[in-house]
Amino acid sequence: MKRKLGILISGRGSNMQALVEGSRLPDAPYEVALVASDKPDAAGLVWATERGIPTFAQSPKGMVKADYEAAIDSALRSAGVEAIALAGYMRLLSDDFVARWRGRIVNIHPSLLPLYKGLDTHARAIAAGDAEAGCSVHVVTDELDAGDVLGQARVPILPGDTADALAQRVLSVEHSLYPRILAEFVTR
Ligand code: GRF
Repeated sequence: MKRKLGILISGRGSNMQALVEGSRLPDAPYEVALVASDKPDAAGLVWATERGIPTFAQSPKGMVKADYEAAIDSALRSAGVEAIALAGYMRLLSDDFVARWRGRIVNIHPSLLPLYKGLDTHARAIAAGDAEAGCSVHVVTDELDAGDVLGQARVPILPGDTADALAQRVLSVEHSLYPRILAEFVTR
């Protein structure tokens, strides 16, 4: 039986697309049961709908966080979701939500954790004079970008690199890392 995955996005969802493509490989151990977003106009929702993947959108505007998260939680549970992948989901999950899904939420973060938690990771890596950058897939816990690292991919930082150029280089390795680590995660 394939494990049912829910993916949370806020934008274009290029990592979500990579996860969907990974789920369609022969012998993939997971299937995408729901793509959910806090942004009803997220481009990734259109992409998923066009491919016949169930979607759910709930804007948190005008709601208390607990009610917003209860709506997301109930959509995930109705879809039979067993594990959650965050893919460019730009909101902090409450401790309560994380506790309800303990050990079953993963995220991809665009740095070589434990370096550069939080935002502006690429600019910070360039400013520090690092020779390489990359991305990490990690388990989501109460503490931001601090759960166990399940896998990383590295790219060189090139002379004259800008944060945007580096972000593009990292993004292309995110797309191969995330489906591979997710497949390991759901079968471990
Ligand atoms: C990527 O930088 C990812 O590492 C971060 O958010 C961005 C997601 O982009 N968590 P996308 O929506 O998957 O294209």
